[in-house]
Amino acid sequence: MPGVPVYYGEPVAVSSAEGARVVDTAGKEYLDFFAGILTVSVGHANAEVNAAARSQMERFGHTACLYPSEPVVALAEKLAEITPGRLEQSYFTTSGTEADETAVMLAQMHTGNTEVLALRHGYSGRSMAAQNLNGLANWRTTPSQVASVKQVLAPYCYRCPLKLEPKTCGIACARDIEDVIQTSTSGKVAALIAEPIQGVGGFITAPKGYFEIAAEIVRKYGGLFLCDEVQTGFARTGKMFAIEHHGVEPDVLTMAKAIANGFPIAATITRPEIASSLKKLTISTFGGNPVSCAAALATIEVLQREDLPARAERLGAELREGLLRLQRRFPSKIGEVRGLGLMLGVEIVRDEQAGDRTPDAPFLNRVFEAAKQRGLLVGKGGLYGNVFRFGPPLLIGSEDVQEALQRFEAAFASCVDG
Ligand SMILES: Cc1ncc(COP(=O)(O)O)c(C=O)c1O
Repeated sequence: MPGVPVYYGEPVAVSSAEGARVVDTAGKEYLDFFAGILTVSVGHANAEVNAAARSQMERFGHTACLYPSEPVVALAEKLAEITPGRLEQSYFTTSGTEADETAVMLAQMHTGNTEVLALRHGYSGRSMAAQNLNGLANWRTTPSQVASVKQVLAPYCYRCPLKLEPKTCGIACARDIEDVIQTSTSGKVAALIAEPIQGVGGFITAPKGYFEIAAEIVRKYGGLFLCDEVQTGFARTGKMFAIEHHGVEPDVLTMAKAIANGFPIAATITRPEIASSLKKLTISTFGGNPVSCAAALATIEVLQREDLPARAERLGAELREGLLRLQRRFPSKIGEVRGLGLMLGVEIVRDEQAGDRTPDAPFLNRVFEAAKQRGLLVGKGGLYGNVFRFGPPLLIGSEDVQEALQRFEAAFASCVDG
């Protein structure tokens, strides 16, 4: 099928999967360090999650959002408990795209303003409106942006858009938001939407202090801070939600992917006074599907019981150490290892040692295929397609991390040496 993304020269056609292992139709086994785009956080075919979904399916599988079901109410209560600050009321949909669009719509209804700020290198999804939020030209098909969205600078320290040094910059990229509002908008904005770590953008990790400044500026001009945790949420970065690393309370938070370990559901959560602004366009037929809600509750139960934030932090430190070792072995090709917890990116460049940071996507693609041959699946991303993305299930053990590192290093070495 032309045009269908298969990710490899020869697609990995999945026949079965369990935990962190995937088996293709030819019987080859892979260690999965991308987890269905950071989604199956408690592992493929998790028995507890599947049992919860099965049991709900036997009771009833659908009510539409018009009639609340027990699982949807229980999930809304659970999300209010585990999200930061005063976020209390959830609106359920089925994808991250819809969760982000709901957040923007809510911000417009609540503030009465229309213009929205998003980050360069940010990703919000594939609908027409979400594409306009995307700060990645390679993830847009529309010829021009809708006028009400402006992309502000991303906190991309490795390629600082202002050519400053992180130690002395005073987080000037965040202060630039005020400049953009003053020079390129009506002076009143509805919102700034931002990911704590830009996932599709190549795991660009905002420095401490960035969100404090960004949220303060956007609020000063009448807008809300919309935090997109679609990729970073649910223990991935070492905290239940990545914005907790920054001590900033979002006005609205969006989530999808790992919320139900792969069952389709997404949520937009906010404070009651903001939620009450959503006065129309409130129907989502599949939103809050009871089976997906039951799966989400079981997933969160596992995340909490197994203390997966702590595990992500511990194993993430081990994975990071291995990747930094690899960087010391191949200092020319690896420009930066970055991220938090088990969300780690490796940026590939032409020759870091010679000061040549030109993105080297062809080299990345060779390593990507070589890793697959050795039975390791990882992700890739970034505007230039030159960043490896490591995001395994969080229930892996130290032995899986070491195995992945060995396979990745062997793949890397085979491409450097010949
Ligand atoms: C940060 C972020 N927001 C939104 C989306 C869109 O989610 P979905 O693919 O479920 O529509 C994604 C998907 O990768 C994402 O990474």
